[in-house]
Amino acid sequence: MASRKDILERYKKYLFPALTPYFGDDAVIVDHAKDQYLWDIEGNQYLDFFGGVLTVSIGHANDEVTERTIEQLKRAQHTSTLFINPIMVDVAEKVAELTPGRLQKCFFTSSGSEANETAVVAARMYTGQKDIITMRHAYSGRTQAAMSLTAHGTWRMGGVFDPYIRHIRNPYMYRAPFEMTEDEMVEIVVKDLEETIATLTNGKIAAFMAEPIQGVGGFITPPKNFFKRIAEVVRAAGGLMIIDEVQTGWGRTGGKWFGIEHWGIEPDIMTFAKGMGNGIPIGATIATPEVADAYLGATFATFGGNPVTMAAVMAVIEYIEKHNLPANCEVQGATMRRYLEEFKSEFDFVGDVRGMGLMQGIEIVKPGPEKTPDPVKTTALIAAARKHGLLIGKGGLYGNVIRIAPHLNVSTADMEAGCKAIAQSLADVAQ
Ligand SMILES: Cc1ncc(COP(=O)(O)O)c(C=O)c1O
Repeated sequence: MASRKDILERYKKYLFPALTPYFGDDAVIVDHAKDQYLWDIEGNQYLDFFGGVLTVSIGHANDEVTERTIEQLKRAQHTSTLFINPIMVDVAEKVAELTPGRLQKCFFTSSGSEANETAVVAARMYTGQKDIITMRHAYSGRTQAAMSLTAHGTWRMGGVFDPYIRHIRNPYMYRAPFEMTEDEMVEIVVKDLEETIATLTNGKIAAFMAEPIQGVGGFITPPKNFFKRIAEVVRAAGGLMIIDEVQTGWGRTGGKWFGIEHWGIEPDIMTFAKGMGNGIPIGATIATPEVADAYLGATFATFGGNPVTMAAVMAVIEYIEKHNLPANCEVQGATMRRYLEEFKSEFDFVGDVRGMGLMQGIEIVKPGPEKTPDPVKTTALIAAARKHGLLIGKGGLYGNVIRIAPHLNVSTADMEAGCKAIAQSLADVAQ
């Protein structure tokens, strides 16, 4: 095995510097990973509570996924969408069964960005309108349309933006401009949506697009009646509801298969990636039959519905189903929340605790009423967690939100161990 120094030197020489690993020159250089653990090249073992950004959903190198993937690799590795492979049909049927409402027809790609690009094109073709409205603090990916949908300055660098994508305020309760109730916040966002439609469009829109919980944005969780009120306005303007479940899907939010189900609306299009494949590259867009059928002309994705990917995805979905992981996310998520709320009362720099199920975050601020973001302490906190053998993530526009997202099948013992490591890390950085 090459040394840290050698790997880092060659990393810097041969990779785009825009890829910035956590911890800089002290980056975790992965040797191997199994189930809940990951080992670096120095032999340190970490409990993984971030899963490669909510992507390793059922544990590293999950045996059932590995076996099914290898079996399929030996059988047929690649077909392209010009030939039909039965497992793609099986997965599409399964996704249609599990998703809410009338969502029925799938288009498979290889990433969340592509899934969202597909959703935007589908909505525009179906409605004959161009305007897509989304929210500030959204993250939708790194391709051109996905970057246009994204509303984080740093993640839009180098983009040439789609002028028909508009961003309204998001319901960020912790950073509301003044004291307000959740209902008041919802009405402010709804008003912004109405005014955006009235002032910037011809009165008709193609779609509204949102993550149920803004992931990269720092797990910003909308009030309960939010999406119902938004959908009323969107539908009155002829628009579709596109829901990005790239982070929130597959049970993550606890008790339901998909995040949006907590808000009780039926999307016209949903997108997936990340946890759907437990690390195997996947993107998927599902739409109602009429929206899918309006996608005119021929389209193609070399790797879309790749049989090996599909075998892995099927194994992941069946594993989640067999072990009822949406329920585990609810139970373990409640434990995690209890700990995080305790931390909030104990440490004056924990400003906010939010999220659902196994997708919870804490916002780190300088103590005091100003709620000044503290990205330096946030970085120190993930470094402290690493010292205690725990991997967690960060995010948020100001880089001051700790993102905690254990695997969907996390055990009670691991949840306790992880939360204790977070407590120790908070104590370390408090000094
Ligand atoms: C909510 C959401 N949508 C889309 C994407 C883009 O996915 P990918 O990186 O697979 O293109 C991400 C990635 O973080 C995401 O969090």
